Amino acid sequence: MQKSYRNQSTRTVLGRLVVTASAIALVAMSVGGVFQADAGQKVLPGSLTDEDFLYDGAPPEAMVSLGRALFFDPILSGNRNISCGTCHDPARGSSDGVALSIGEGGTGFGPERRTAQGVTQRIPRNAQALWNIGAREYVSMFHDGRLEPDPHRIFQSGYWSPAREDLPEGLDTLLAAQAMFPVLSASEMAGQKGENPVATAVAEDRVGDAWDLLAARLDAVPEYQDRFRHAFPEMGDDAPVSFVQAARALAAFQTVAFRSDQSPFDSWVAGDQTALTAAQRRGFALFLGKAGCGSCHSGTLLTDHGFHAIAVPQIGPGKGHGADTGYWRASGFKDRLEDEGRYRVTFDDADLFAFRTPSLRNVALTGPWGHNGAFDDLEAMVRHHLDSVASLNAYDATAIDLLPLDRVIEPKGEGSKLLFPLVGSPQRAAFDLRDTWVHRSEALRNRIAEASQLAPVSLSDREVDALLAFLHSLTDPTAVDRSHLIPDTVPSGLPPQPGRARGG
Ligand code: HEC
Ligand code: HEC
Repeated sequence: MQKSYRNQSTRTVLGRLVVTASAIALVAMSVGGVFQADAGQKVLPGSLTDEDFLYDGAPPEAMVSLGRALFFDPILSGNRNISCGTCHDPARGSSDGVALSIGEGGTGFGPERRTAQGVTQRIPRNAQALWNIGAREYVSMFHDGRLEPDPHRIFQSGYWSPAREDLPEGLDTLLAAQAMFPVLSASEMAGQKGENPVATAVAEDRVGDAWDLLAARLDAVPEYQDRFRHAFPEMGDDAPVSFVQAARALAAFQTVAFRSDQSPFDSWVAGDQTALTAAQRRGFALFLGKAGCGSCHSGTLLTDHGFHAIAVPQIGPGKGHGADTGYWRASGFKDRLEDEGRYRVTFDDADLFAFRTPSLRNVALTGPWGHNGAFDDLEAMVRHHLDSVASLNAYDATAIDLLPLDRVIEPKGEGSKLLFPLVGSPQRAAFDLRDTWVHRSEALRNRIAEASQLAPVSLSDREVDALLAFLHSLTDPTAVDRSHLIPDTVPSGLPPQPGRARGG
């Protein structure tokens, strides 16, 4: 069943204010960023202000600088070989420029990253860009929103999350709560059971122990001890470092580091009539009007923070969802390969294959696009929206450009020991089938098609060009390369990741 989000007669929320269909026509004609709604009041697509961010945009400096060190320090990964910055690189749009990252066990950065020590799989979803992630309006984290505030405090932490009752108290912001999770992911940061005590604690479902082990690592570094006491004076002289504090510092850093509100669009909204070209202004009018983009990409950050199924083709290993065991039977690897998105959080049929509407700020810097990076061309991503089912069916999964997996390892028990032999051929050929399995199955592809909420819309090539011009007006020139954020050294003494001198 297709639910149309197009041609809505209902109001489109833009920023904190409301634009009606008749006001949309005025956008095209509007001079500067100010345009009128039919009630006659001035309507601004809300510029971002300090108050829109956590800590009113100015967290304590000691927390920010501690968070900066932690963000780039591989000490937070089980095998001390990857940092947050490896996948959220300030020089690569706060993501890593690849569809699906190679997590811990890899070496090198961005498209040059390789599987040095061996990995068990690629990361199943695209590393999210972090632009303006410290904005208070964020009400969920991750592509499927699986981390959300829990106003009824069913759990002591105050959040719904995959860690349920294990998530500790004291996480004062959603962004801090998020920082508890990457370190628990075996393929992102923790490593495989048996490789290190953090990974083993995770694998044995002792997540509290995993956080404590990481906090103890930090506590053993004198410089971190000082920095934590400086950032959290309430610790006094004796209390040990806790991972909750590390998470809070990471949130403070990300709030400042990834704030981005200096785009031409921002200038235009603030009243600079010359900030947008004629094509960009036409594109914005289409975006809000005929093209129907603004119904989901609404507000200051161009996201409604809602979840919608738009039939992005599935590539990569998926999330182990769905009932299909075809791959399992064909390959011998006991995996199911679908990624059902938001449905796996709510178990509401309306959420099948729905993913959170991404913010479009700096979208030209954050490719490949889609929750799994299925599109490496921004125009193709936009055109996909115009007829999502046709685009899905026409998608050539064999042409996808995924990072090579040169060394794939598979954990094997031998007595009480765990070994990680390389997966060799012909098993390896069966392993590689997974990247395109879901897309090549007509039945599985049809499930994705049937869930699409997008009704087709017809735009001329010139109109698509205008939409793209508008999307480029969302690029903040200060966001193109923020490698100055990467410290030269971090307190653990390990090489910060990514290194400022790139390529290694
Ligand atoms: C191996 C790559 C990788 C590493 C390392 C990594 N991330 Fe991520 N990050 C991702 C991916 C992939 C997602 C999306 C996951 C999903 O939706 O299931 C994500 C999502 C996020 C989000 C949510 C953004 C949003 O819009 O909801 C934040 C915040 C974040 N990461 C911060 C961090 C921090 C802080 C660290 C270090 C503690 C970190 N990441 C380490 C890949 C990585
Ligand atoms: C029904 C809601 C909806 C409408 C309408 C909509 N989008 Fe999207 N858009 C989404 C969702 C949801 C995603 C992410 C889907 C996924 O990853 O599976 C997305 C992804 C994108 C992306 C990729 C962003 C990224 O970071 O990966 C771009 C670009 C985009 N949309 C632009 C547009 C444009 C331009 C229009 C109008 C032609 C539009 N969207 C209309 C919901 C919508």
